[in-house]
Amino acid sequence: MEVFAHRGASKQAPENTLVAFELANQYGANGIELDVHLTKDHVPVIIHDENIRRTTNGVGFVQSYTFEELASFDAGSWYNPKFNQSKIMSLEQFMEWFVKKEMKVNMELKTKVIEYPNIEQIVSDYINQYQVNDRTIISSFNPETIQRFREVNKRIELAWLTKIRVRRVDLLLEEIGANSIHINQRLLSSRMLKLIIERNIPFRVYTVNKTSTMKKCEIMGAKSIITDVPDRALQVLQHT
Ligand code: G3P
Ligand code: MG
Repeated sequence: MEVFAHRGASKQAPENTLVAFELANQYGANGIELDVHLTKDHVPVIIHDENIRRTTNGVGFVQSYTFEELASFDAGSWYNPKFNQSKIMSLEQFMEWFVKKEMKVNMELKTKVIEYPNIEQIVSDYINQYQVNDRTIISSFNPETIQRFREVNKRIELAWLTKIRVRRVDLLLEEIGANSIHINQRLLSSRMLKLIIERNIPFRVYTVNKTSTMKKCEIMGAKSIITDVPDRALQVLQHT
């Protein structure tokens, strides 16, 4: 089972920043999960919330700033003053780093609250430019984003993200063109997961931080777990 670092190694470093990604890489994580929004000038950037308030020293919506403006904020001090040099990264800056690493990436497109026009095409263009289709997984809670991504990119792995139960999830995935599903750990004992396993649909589980749940995911056949503590996960899985 693979270990994906949720927003990077986000327990030990400010989430979705280069230091958190570097740390995940140093730990030996198989992949990184990160969140993508679009700026006012349509630049894909890596941040979890629609608003920069929680994870920077600024306020306001990501979509109301240009990338240049966003890059002036401090994205690390909120976590610990020693990370005061951390910045919000563009997806392009991430790619420059990622392309030289032997890792996978799960880009989560945050289109549930704000629908960023053309985000699918913009992100797909970067993936094609850096030739990382075979080690990138696109996910989203928004089924329409998955559907639109499939229209612009036929070969990439698409995962629908869910924290709720859906009755015929197999039909939904087929309809939207998803290859896999990322489920909240609370759904581990759901009937939905039973169906997913019966139908041989690849699944990943988030956000798994407890060692007992990590082991359970492995036994149930999860392709990966997405965790804030990749170091712990790698250690636990080595000994099972
Ligand atoms: O991609 C898995 C997980 O990141 C989804 O929830 O809110 O942590 O982005 P969230
Ligand atoms: Mg996420």
